[in-house]
Amino acid sequence: MKTLDEVQKDLHYRFPEGFWWGSSASATQTEGAANLDGKGQNIWDYWYEQEPNRFFNKVGPVVTSQFYYRYKEDIALMKEIGHNSFRLSISWSRMFPNGKGEVNDKAVDFYNSVIDELVATDVEPFVNLYHFDMPMAMQEIGGWTNRVVVDAFVDYATVCFRLFGDRVKKWFTHNEPIVPVEGGYMYDFHYPNEVDFGKAIQVGYHTLLSSAKAIKVYKELEQDGKIGIILNLTPSYPRSQHPADVKASQLADAIFNRSFLDPSVKGGFPAELVSILKEEGYMPMIEEGDMDIIKANTVDLLGVNYYQPRRVKAKENLPNPEAPFMPDRYFDNYVMPGRKMNPHRGWEIYEKGVYDILMNVKENYGNIECFISENGMGVEGEERFRDENGMIQDDYRIEFIGEHLKWVHKAIQEGANVKGYHLWTFMDNWSWTNAYKNRYGFVSVDLEKDSERSIKKSGHWFKKVSENNGF
Ligand code: BG6
Repeated sequence: MKTLDEVQKDLHYRFPEGFWWGSSASATQTEGAANLDGKGQNIWDYWYEQEPNRFFNKVGPVVTSQFYYRYKEDIALMKEIGHNSFRLSISWSRMFPNGKGEVNDKAVDFYNSVIDELVATDVEPFVNLYHFDMPMAMQEIGGWTNRVVVDAFVDYATVCFRLFGDRVKKWFTHNEPIVPVEGGYMYDFHYPNEVDFGKAIQVGYHTLLSSAKAIKVYKELEQDGKIGIILNLTPSYPRSQHPADVKASQLADAIFNRSFLDPSVKGGFPAELVSILKEEGYMPMIEEGDMDIIKANTVDLLGVNYYQPRRVKAKENLPNPEAPFMPDRYFDNYVMPGRKMNPHRGWEIYEKGVYDILMNVKENYGNIECFISENGMGVEGEERFRDENGMIQDDYRIEFIGEHLKWVHKAIQEGANVKGYHLWTFMDNWSWTNAYKNRYGFVSVDLEKDSERSIKKSGHWFKKVSENNGF
């Protein structure tokens, strides 16, 4: 049998020593126990109660994958498939049922146990504080539109740093902060499903401010760890090199990527974005001193979620000047013919996109330490790939991960400061309105059999990749 050294010599794609191999997940999507042990309602619990029809097969967030009860079994499985790290999120409404005030001791016990179990298993916990799950009590006072909520979030973050920071050394303030802006206030796929660009901008701004303020606290506590943010970056590609297409693509990039990337890493907003907002009369309310806080409290570590590119062309028809403002007044998205698509999710699969993002971060963002914090492929009806031994043969996922990893590897070869790769997600989980429609996990969850877990072929493959530190 070959030694590890010999195996590694033969690898085509060998990753740097200490590379973070793992996956990511979020509280609302995995824990279940949504109304147990003192947890308060969050917007998903509430929205499901109000409009169950919005959710695929009417499955709500109470079900999810029972991580709350089965975390020990799950962490053992993480180890079994080669994880050296795992990202979870803390549920704000479990910690603070009313969003602020009294901390829920049962939640503290739960997260302490999960973190202890991860540490004891040698799976490093990466902890995110906000993954789309506003406590309902905070939403009732306006959610992120209300500046009071920014301070409540910072208080919640502070408590988490104090309670768990002795063992957690990688923190994240937010996951994909632009998604609640788009879903909640522009395109109707998150609660409170309003269409109001003025609120959207204020929500985005307050979220960003809450991140900088939490980072400030973290640094003051001197806990000897790193703090970052996780952004979904969708590289923008113009349809042609025609100046109008190029300009449209740059604007889409400023609005959807650089709006959070620039202030998080460089401490300031992109000039193009600010001038559009000024021109259109949509500047958010910014208080004196805010910009100093944002400038002084940039991230140590950047998580990059990458699923799909954005294909952009110049506007073909002039927008109706009477219509309420939306950023797509400046460009059109289009589907590039002949591209590989994930038919289940309708997303283009463009592996080189991950390389383009990483090289952009290297060249334009000071080569800040970063990692792929999500990348993954949701597939509907995976049960049909289960073989006679009960294993889901998800070769398409192995190919998907492998092809992306090749580009990650190339970026590293060319000097990008990339420290790891986390798949979305560890086990099949509940998703925002899509519920259990598309499955993403290394581990399947059989809802018909009391959420029984079983490792898919991709999980076994990933174990080898992680053990060999390459493939
Ligand atoms: C990311 C989110 O945007 O994509 C996850 O961080 C989400 O929460 C994942 O589940 C996949 O998207 P979806 O909508 O297919 O579940």
